[in-house]
Amino acid sequence: MQAVKVKEDFYWVGAIDWKVRNFHGYSTTRGTTYNAYLLIDEKIVLFDTVKHGFEEELLARISSIVEPSKVDYLVVNHIEPDHAGAFLKVVEVIKPEKIFITRNGRQGIISHFHKGDFPFEEVKTGYEVKVGKRTLRFIETPMIHWPDSMMTYIPEDKILVSQDAFGAHYATSGRFDDEVDYCELVQETRKYYANIVYPYSQQVAKLLQTVKEMKLEFDFICPDHGVVLKKHIKDILALYEKWSSFTCDPVVLIIYDTMWNSTEKMAYAIMEGVSKEGVEVKLRNLTVSDPTELMAEVLESKGLILGSPTLNNGLLPTVSGFLTYMKGLRPRGKIGAAFGTYGWSGEAVKLLNQYLQEIQAEIVHEGIRCKYAPDKEVLAQCEELGRLVARKIKETCSV
Ligand code: FEO
Repeated sequence: MQAVKVKEDFYWVGAIDWKVRNFHGYSTTRGTTYNAYLLIDEKIVLFDTVKHGFEEELLARISSIVEPSKVDYLVVNHIEPDHAGAFLKVVEVIKPEKIFITRNGRQGIISHFHKGDFPFEEVKTGYEVKVGKRTLRFIETPMIHWPDSMMTYIPEDKILVSQDAFGAHYATSGRFDDEVDYCELVQETRKYYANIVYPYSQQVAKLLQTVKEMKLEFDFICPDHGVVLKKHIKDILALYEKWSSFTCDPVVLIIYDTMWNSTEKMAYAIMEGVSKEGVEVKLRNLTVSDPTELMAEVLESKGLILGSPTLNNGLLPTVSGFLTYMKGLRPRGKIGAAFGTYGWSGEAVKLLNQYLQEIQAEIVHEGIRCKYAPDKEVLAQCEELGRLVARKIKETCSV
């Protein structure tokens, strides 16, 4: 297995996981990569390791450039096990002189491995280390993705080793963004943001501001997943700017499930209303929808209309399960409404509205509750609900 040259003296030495399809619940339909990078200067530096089980692949790629025991420094940008799972094995082999890590990272490594006798050197934002012709400049990025997270900037080469940020679960034979399909890259980057980075959008916005203030320039952004960015850096940064500011597209997403097709009939009538106003609408039945993919659609859709029948005084399990997941990812900036059928108690709409309140959506209607099956009058109300949400979106998004 060979290292891949990114720039003179800087290599990708990570691992490709073609087979993974479930990454702690995230459906990785295109697999993923665990990226690590190697810098050859007066000091030889390894940036991050890989997931446990991929140690040999990492060490083989390092060996294609240099004997692993010659690595002087290890930079631990992030301690989540997909990057630090191989930490013990790799440290045992390379025996680094120093390990650069944040204070939270150091504590996290000790908590994970119950061992702390490593040559740690704690770093903070602005801390710099000369490694020969080049400098490692560390930037703490707590909560992008974990409290320990940081990035490393190499100003002489304009390289940002960005750990999880700007990455994607995307296994490909090409290692660079100009060697893969751009639409796939955007799809996977969007999905990654929606399911991993979304709750930390405020921190992302702050990071983007810091990048501007520090006037950092990038020739390469090297994330811990997916491909190295070089051609599409501006595009991906622009997408991060859009997503972190909760800017949405004028699209209505109707997310629902149904027991005996009555709630579904309401969903179709709402869809009809949205369409009649000339606004794009997507209908997603939770029995047949992938929650990970669906979150990518939630990220960019301005309208969010939720539907469920009442079951045992609550929501259908598919609906409550998805909404619990969605709430944790903290979407913002939505225009919302709710609907659903019931037999006797009828709590579903109230519960759906609570979810909408919890994500601070602007609720434009009290919601439509329908006993048993919708008649023409209820379906007309549903259509009007769709029109109402669509009109509000047109006003808000200046369509
Ligand atoms: Fe790819 Fe937060 O680890």
